[in-house]
Amino acid sequence: MPDKNITELTIRRPDDWHLHLRDRAMLRAVLPETARHFGRAIIMPNLVPPVVTSAQAEAYRGRIMDALPAGSDFTPLMTLYLTEATDPEDVRAAHAAGIATAVKLYPAGATTNSASGVHDFEKVRPVLEVMAEIGMPLCVHGEVTDSEIDIFDREATFIDRVLKPLRKKVPDLKIVMEHVTTQDAVDYVRDSSKNLAATITTHHLIINRNHILAGGIKPHYYCLPVAKREAHRVALVQAAVSGDKRFFLGTDSAPHTDPAKLQPCGCAGIFTAPNTMSCLAEVFDAAGRLRKLEAFASLNGPAFYGLPANADTITLVKGDPVTYPAHIATDDGPVTVFDPGFDLHWRVT
Ligand code: DOR
Ligand code: ZN
Repeated sequence: MPDKNITELTIRRPDDWHLHLRDRAMLRAVLPETARHFGRAIIMPNLVPPVVTSAQAEAYRGRIMDALPAGSDFTPLMTLYLTEATDPEDVRAAHAAGIATAVKLYPAGATTNSASGVHDFEKVRPVLEVMAEIGMPLCVHGEVTDSEIDIFDREATFIDRVLKPLRKKVPDLKIVMEHVTTQDAVDYVRDSSKNLAATITTHHLIINRNHILAGGIKPHYYCLPVAKREAHRVALVQAAVSGDKRFFLGTDSAPHTDPAKLQPCGCAGIFTAPNTMSCLAEVFDAAGRLRKLEAFASLNGPAFYGLPANADTITLVKGDPVTYPAHIATDDGPVTVFDPGFDLHWRVT
């Protein structure tokens, strides 16, 4: 039941705990869309070549700062892309110097630009042990890559085959299961007592696999992990609106140009940066839980990362349907903005 009497909501400025900004022309085009509403974002390192070292993260942060609109006080929180050759002492130094906030684990081959990721998890154990020691979180793309595992089962299988053994070996490591898509992941996070949290994307709160596949294939709804059946989407909404501190927003806004998405083998990624706050307010309103939006978007993430919440606020107002451009223009080509498939009544003032 929507909260009928709430038509205005002021919350601490939100953060995005999982964001793809890319580089060069794409960076310049998409960064203002996030900087408009968000205070900080965890920046994904899957560039080509990936952002592996502390020096590369520092240089990438510089390019992001250069691309920020004048007057913006958005802060990018950088991540290092974990490879089997990552030097634990470089990670320690990057954290101590405030250059990197987290490390990102991509199983090799799991998703866009993940070829340099990890095949053998034992090889990265020394890095993980240093991270546990210094309290640096590991952001995990939680999908197995074995071709014989059905794509809809890859997240649940990852929990059993990789995450459970890893958390036994390095119990003090803080882990964020990124962009969870299943009831299995929600239950696993809820059942764990410490050092584990999960981000949930905007689009996984809204679409299920029918949106991608029923009545014609919709490349703009294709992302990884792929959206699952409706019962899983409902579990994600329940986790997000619950206020449980272990669940927070990571949009995984992942821009690709239309030509890169609309082809026989199209890229995975959904671009939600422009309308995420409107979409989230609609989802929380429909669940009768608008008062929990602040916990999900603005409070739980910083608490897990050991950072203060943003000091300033944003205000959302409910009214006539608000529209967003269907695409944003970039020098690389148009990027389609996520279409939630329903009217959005909430806008950020
Ligand atoms: O859909 C996705 N797109 N999932 C990912 O894990 C990567 C991302 C991208 O970089 O495009
Ligand atoms: Zn991502």
